Parts: sequence; C-alpha cells; structure tokens
Amino acid sequence: MQFSQLVGLTIAGASLASAACPPRIEDGIKAGDDLARWAQDSINAFFPFQDGWQDAFDVAFSADVDATFNATVFTFDTFKTAYEGFYQLLDGGFGGTFEHGFLSAIGVPNAADSGGFVTVTGWEGGLIGGAGGPLLNTTDAAFIVIEETESCERKIVEFRETSNLGKF
Ligand SMILES: *[C@@H]1O[C@H](CO)[C@@H](O)[C@H](O)[C@H]1NC(C)=O
Ligand SMILES: *[C@@H]1O[C@H](CO)[C@@H](O)[C@H](O)[C@H]1NC(C)=O
Repeated sequence: MQFSQLVGLTIAGASLASAACPPRIEDGIKAGDDLARWAQDSINAFFPFQDGWQDAFDVAFSADVDATFNATVFTFDTFKTAYEGFYQLLDGGFGGTFEHGFLSAIGVPNAADSGGFVTVTGWEGGLIGGAGGPLLNTTDAAFIVIEETESCERKIVEFRETSNLGKF
C-alpha cells in the first residue's frame, strides 16, 4: 500500500467518529497556530490571578483531566482547589501587580480533528507585596493535550505544568 493510500484510510477512519464536527483547518501549520492560540487564550482566562478564572477553568478542562504541577498529581477537583490557593497568593501577595506572558507557543494538530498538542513557556511575576515592592519575575511552562469532544468543543485532557515561582 502506498503512503498516500494509508493516510487516506486513516483520515477516513478518524473522520467517521467525528463526522458531525466541522473539518480541521486544512493547512497543518495554520491548524497548529490556531490550536496554540486557543491554548494561550484559555490560559489567559483561567490563570488564577484575576476574577472569573474559575468559570474559565470549568470551560477549558475536561472533567477527567490528568494534571500535574511540578511533581504533584491532580484531578479536576484537586487542581481547582490548588488554583484557589494560588489565586489567594497571586492576587493578594502581589497587591494587584501580578502579570504573566508567553515566551513561546508551539501547536501540533491532530490529523483529522481540532485537538492536538501544545507546548508553552512563559514568565510570571510582579512586585512582592504590591506597588513599590521588589520585582519577582520567574518562568513557567506547560505541555497540554487537547481533545475534540463529541459536541465539537476543545477540552484539555492532559496538563503538565511547571513553574519556578516559589514561596515568597
Ligand atoms: C519578565 O521577563 C520577561 C522575559 O524577559 C519579560 O518579557 C517581561 O516583561 C518581564 N516582566 C516584568 C513584569 O518585568
Ligand atoms: C514548583 O517547583 C519550584 C522549583 O522547586 C518551586 O519553586 C515551586 O514552589 C513549585 N510550585 C508548586 C506549585 O509546587
């Protein structure tokens, strides 16, 4: 069998399962960029330093997400509880000066649906104690597996997060 036939079969088989969803962006690079954009928008919304992160967390993560932060393993519920603690720390500890940004974002799309893999790196920090305090600027990263659901939404099913932001 030729490679092109094999690819055709694989795509035909995979698209049967999600026949109801719109086709993936055809161009693989654009599909990857779109996926990486979605991941960054989601992270911006659920990063726990601003009001409303809880709702964004519920939207972005699959109920059966496999999550880790450094070496600690989390479920959806325990991860959200941990984020609640981070929120107190980031919102209170930096007196409203906490910010984050991306340093890189790589999106690799699945062959036949709108899911795939995203790797991001970034910075996070602020002025300890608020305005006038010393600047703390650290790095973070995440490896993210995104799946297309039966209702054609994207959900994060795996989230591997690491950060250098220690206790301050
Ligand atoms: C933290 O460092 C990054 C990377 O050098 C930089 O882009 C960002 O502006 C810095 N943030 C602050 C608040 O200084
Ligand atoms: C992750 O590990 C870094 C480096 O040891 C540490 O500074 C930070 O507090 C850890 N964060 C969490 C949430 O465990």
